[in-house]
Amino acid sequence: METCRWSARSPEIPTRPSPSRATPALPRAHLVRLLRRFRASAATGSSSAAVPVEPITKNRMFILGVGYVGKFFGKELLDSGWSVSSWVKWTCKSAEKRKELEDEGFDMYILDANEPKMSVLSSMKEYTHLLVSIPPMAGIGDLLLQQEHLLRNMLKGGNIQWLCYLSSTSVYGDSGGDWVDEDYPASPSNHMAKLRLDAEKGWLDLGGSLGISALVFRLGGIYGPGRSAIDTIIRKKPLTQGQKMRSSRQYTARVHIEDIGQALKASISVPPSSRIYNIVDDDPAPREEVFEFAHMLVEKKWPGHFKDDPSPETTGSIAIGASTRGEKRVSNARMKGELGVRLIHPSYKSGFHSIVEKTKIHSL
Ligand SMILES: NC(=O)c1ccc[n+]([C@@H]2O[C@H](COP(=O)([O-])OP(=O)(O)OC[C@H]3O[C@@H](n4cnc5c(N)ncnc54)[C@H](OP(=O)(O)O)[C@@H]3O)[C@@H](O)[C@H]2O)c1
Repeated sequence: METCRWSARSPEIPTRPSPSRATPALPRAHLVRLLRRFRASAATGSSSAAVPVEPITKNRMFILGVGYVGKFFGKELLDSGWSVSSWVKWTCKSAEKRKELEDEGFDMYILDANEPKMSVLSSMKEYTHLLVSIPPMAGIGDLLLQQEHLLRNMLKGGNIQWLCYLSSTSVYGDSGGDWVDEDYPASPSNHMAKLRLDAEKGWLDLGGSLGISALVFRLGGIYGPGRSAIDTIIRKKPLTQGQKMRSSRQYTARVHIEDIGQALKASISVPPSSRIYNIVDDDPAPREEVFEFAHMLVEKKWPGHFKDDPSPETTGSIAIGASTRGEKRVSNARMKGELGVRLIHPSYKSGFHSIVEKTKIHSL
């Protein structure tokens, strides 16, 4: 059995052979030829559905939506030798972003999920793993699931054996501050959270109809290098609407990008059956506390350079009105117990320390 290696600090990832597809490894040149055939058919606009799908024995990830998580995780896959660049795909909707990412060494499809091309949808069946990182669109829902029937037909009989949909803890709504685990009935309290819940169901159902295990990762607020309270302070950015809404909350679920990465790896390494996981840290601290801590760290590292900005825009200290996202504390016990994840950053405190350590400001 072929195995693929993560970076030194990560466990070895065995490939997960599909029982019905135990075939000898195809020579790489053959796979490259196969890929070229798909590209040729995409270029001519013809549907590649007619091209027979040949089983593959090497893990290949298709990432839908190369945003903060998609890019981070895709890079980890490449860096750890999981696959060479032409075997990892991302999608994005702009040609400009495509160029930028290709310059970084990524191999890209352009896909606007509003109008997915048959050739791109069809090419997905050439992959063994599918990460869905595109959020639902207001008023519509999950864009790709609008084509669910087509998607199912395209993926049927292909190589996909792992599918993970990135969702949000917003689906729980308000538990009055109680702890919620994955068995807690979801009760979304706003339009976007309702669309999320629908999308979760749609992707789980799709996985079921394909006979593969589909996972839903309910992520807390994502932070990491380039996206954190530290960055907000340094760049003196005003708070986003979502951040303002969270300011009034007593509890806020969050998770460091590295921990999302290791949870994803773990779910590939120890493939569970279809399952929902909360992906959050251990410390649902209120946002005000988190900002105070970030200010303290910034002042310590760059004394006097980034004055504590008391404006409500950056501190979120004004009454924004009741948050419609709900008060709850989200449990990560299943993630730890079943996926064996040991958090690198159990609290925002260690996460922020590592961000500050890595941040270099050249203009000072
Ligand atoms: N940020 C958080 O704190 C948080 C918390 C919980 C859950 N989530 C969800 O978790 C997932 C990953 O988060 P993230 O922070 O990595 O998100 P992100 O940075 O916003 O990335 C989302 C990606 O989806 C792509 N996308 C959006 N609309 C698309 C369309 N019509 N067609 C094709 N691609 C489209 C975006 O492409 P472009 O860049 O080209 O627009 C972007 O690459 C998202 O679904 C997000 O909503 C986020």
